[in-house]
Formats: sequence, structure tokens, C-alpha cells
Amino acid sequence: MIPLGSVELEIASHSQEAPPLSWEENDLQRDHDRIERLTDSWPSRANVRKPLVDLTLDYDPSKPDYLIELLPFHDHPIFQKAPEEYKQAALSCGWIAYNEKTVAIESKIVSPACMHLIDGEVSGFPRHRHRAGIAQALTDEAFHILLVVQATAVTRQRRQLHELTLPPFELVTSMQQYQEKHPEKWKKILIQLATAVVSEVMVSEYLSRLSNAFDIQPLNRITTEIHRRDESAHNGLFKSLGAVIYHGLNAREREFFVGALSQPSLWFASPELDVWEAMLKQIGFPNAERMIADCRAQRRSKDIHLDLSTLETLFADLGVENRLRSRAISK
Ligand SMILES: [Fe+2]
Ligand SMILES: [Fe+2]
Repeated sequence: MIPLGSVELEIASHSQEAPPLSWEENDLQRDHDRIERLTDSWPSRANVRKPLVDLTLDYDPSKPDYLIELLPFHDHPIFQKAPEEYKQAALSCGWIAYNEKTVAIESKIVSPACMHLIDGEVSGFPRHRHRAGIAQALTDEAFHILLVVQATAVTRQRRQLHELTLPPFELVTSMQQYQEKHPEKWKKILIQLATAVVSEVMVSEYLSRLSNAFDIQPLNRITTEIHRRDESAHNGLFKSLGAVIYHGLNAREREFFVGALSQPSLWFASPELDVWEAMLKQIGFPNAERMIADCRAQRRSKDIHLDLSTLETLFADLGVENRLRSRAISK
């Protein structure tokens, strides 16, 4: 008798075990594996486990706090002709708002979504299998709040902006309004999860522009870079969590979840003009009201569309079936 080779042995042993996994099950297995790999690597990669950033880092008041091209009115003539001190103050406001928005995303969008998963409130989600990995992500987000609270405290103190207050962000209020339209608890939870998945996929890009800006205040760039490193792991983690959530839902829930996933990328792209108007008023920026009114009018005249390629990529990553993909995109 000819002895079996290793590949044949493998086939023979498989044939006596469970039937081979389907294509969809194989994909899902890869998502479970990715979540488990990220859970295992957390102790060595998470920045919360590393020394804190040095807040006594040299502060150069002549360096801007933020990137001018990220201001939604940077090319408006009123801004361009404004005295330099007001331009610099607007950049400091930009940095503070960028971080306050980060705090809002972490505390009002991502952390409650993590808690729904940890508490087992999502039907079909294997709660115990990924509980530790999700708790790690929640720990990371709490650390990011500390990181940006510390960094903006330095800015507020150096630039005399202690009292600057900001109204709520459109990203958060849009999610909350969407939730209010749906009295069913399961729909509110799926909206929270969808907003968290999309935010976690988009936040890396949001952070990367500033983390590569070597002309701004060094502390600001470094803070953003530390956050970006954690978020590059969260990007994969939340795509895989999104896939596991999706595949655990029944047909009705799946359809609702896919519809909810198509909304937040629009909210995420908001220039947050209400926040800007409030901040510019507080620093006494000349003609701010007119400048913001022009930005609003310009935005209304532009037909704001969903970023279909980002959405298509997300649906593909989550393994959303074609029928639901085209329905969500054509709405
Ligand atoms: Fe974060
Ligand atoms: Fe995150």
C-alpha cells in the first residue's frame, strides 16, 4: 500500500470531519481571525500601554496650531484679508474643535456602540467570543479622550482660549435625530453601531492629514499621530466587527443595518458651520457672520452626494449581499 502524502492525509482527515466551509463562512472566519489577532497584539501595540506624551514639549507660539486648508472658509476673501492675529486665533479654534469632535466621536458614538456589544444587546453577535477585544477598543477610546483633553488644555492656556465653548457637532446630532425617528430599541442600537463602524473606518483619514503636518505645533502633530496609530488598528477591527454583526442579523435587521450604514459618511463630511460660527463670534473675528453665511449658501448650492466608492468598499468589506447594496445606494 502506498502511504498517503501530507496533502492527501489532510483531505482524508477533513472528509471525516465537518463539511468544508462555504465561501461566506470562510470570509467570516477571516474576520473572526482578524479580531482575535488584534486582541492578541493589543498589549504590545496599544498606546495606552506606552509612556504618555511629553506635554512640556517646546511650544513655539509662532507656529500655527492647525492646518489652514482644513478651515472651511480658508479661501474666502474675508478670511484672507483678516488681520494675522485673527487668522492665528481661527487656527487655534480649528485645533480645539478638531479635538472636541474627537471627544464627541469617542464618547457619544464609539463607546456606546462598544457597550452594546459587550452587554450582549446585539442579536446574533457572538458576545463572549470578542468581548475582550471590544473592551480593549473601549479602553483605547478613553485614552484618546485623555490625550486630546491634555493637548487642547495646553492650547487653551497658551492662546488664552480657556472659555471657548462649542455647540454640539452635526455628526452626533444627525445620528441622534435618526435614532429619534425610530422608537424600536433594536433600530436605535443598529444606528449606533453603523455610525460607529463608519466613523472608525473614516477617522484614520481624518487624523492622517494632521499627523503628517510638520509645520504645525509639534505637540499637536504628535498627539494626532499617536491617536492615528491606534486608529489604524481600529480600522480593521471595526470592519471585521461590522461583518460579524451583519452576518448575525436576520433578513429584516440586515436591511435596516445596511440602510443605516449609508448615512454617516455624509454626516462625517459636515464642515460643522454652526460650531465655526459660535467659535468665530467668541473670538470676535471680523465679519464672521457674513463669511459663514456665504459658506452655508455655497454648501446648499452644491448637491451633496454620498461618497459611493467609500460606501461600496465598506459594503464589500462587510460582505453585504448585492441586492441590499444596490438598494441602499439607490435610495
Ligand atoms: Fe480613537
Ligand atoms: Fe477608534
